[in-house]
Amino acid sequence: MINVLFVCLGNICRSPMAEAVFRKLVEEAGLADQIHVDSAGTAEWHVGEPADYRTLTVLRKHGIQYDGIARRIQSADLRRFDYIIAMDGSNMADVTRLDRSGVLNGKLYRLMDFAPPGSPRDVPDPYYDGRFDYVYGLVEAGCRGLLDHIRGRHGL
Ligand code: 4NP
Repeated sequence: MINVLFVCLGNICRSPMAEAVFRKLVEEAGLADQIHVDSAGTAEWHVGEPADYRTLTVLRKHGIQYDGIARRIQSADLRRFDYIIAMDGSNMADVTRLDRSGVLNGKLYRLMDFAPPGSPRDVPDPYYDGRFDYVYGLVEAGCRGLLDHIRGRHGL
């Protein structure tokens, strides 16, 4: 099993969206029994809550269901997951800080590193400005590139 964890700040907007989109792509590719997908946040504010209604709305618009509950990333996740995919530079720094025993090496990526050239470096936080449709486009582009990367690397 290849384990993929998407990480943002609150685990209610961007990383649940990425988890849901990526899982759908994985299922469409017939790889659901080989790639496990999850998400987590670096902050604890929204732990135990469902995804933001605006994330759920944009997912539903694209025919994607999501019923995950927000959780905070733990240092054990750094060991357990093979790909830890951050939404922005601040998430990258927070995850790096969590790695006290040096298990992260080579496993931390930025989602937009897998998007086509010319894409922004970060998936911006839509919580305050409400740009959920824009964020969906970025997330989808990144997820498509990430799946291509994983398929190529693991011969899937
Ligand atoms: P997320 O968005 O990191 O994409 O889940 C946020 C959600 C909540 C807050 C910030 C960002 N907040 O400040 O509560």
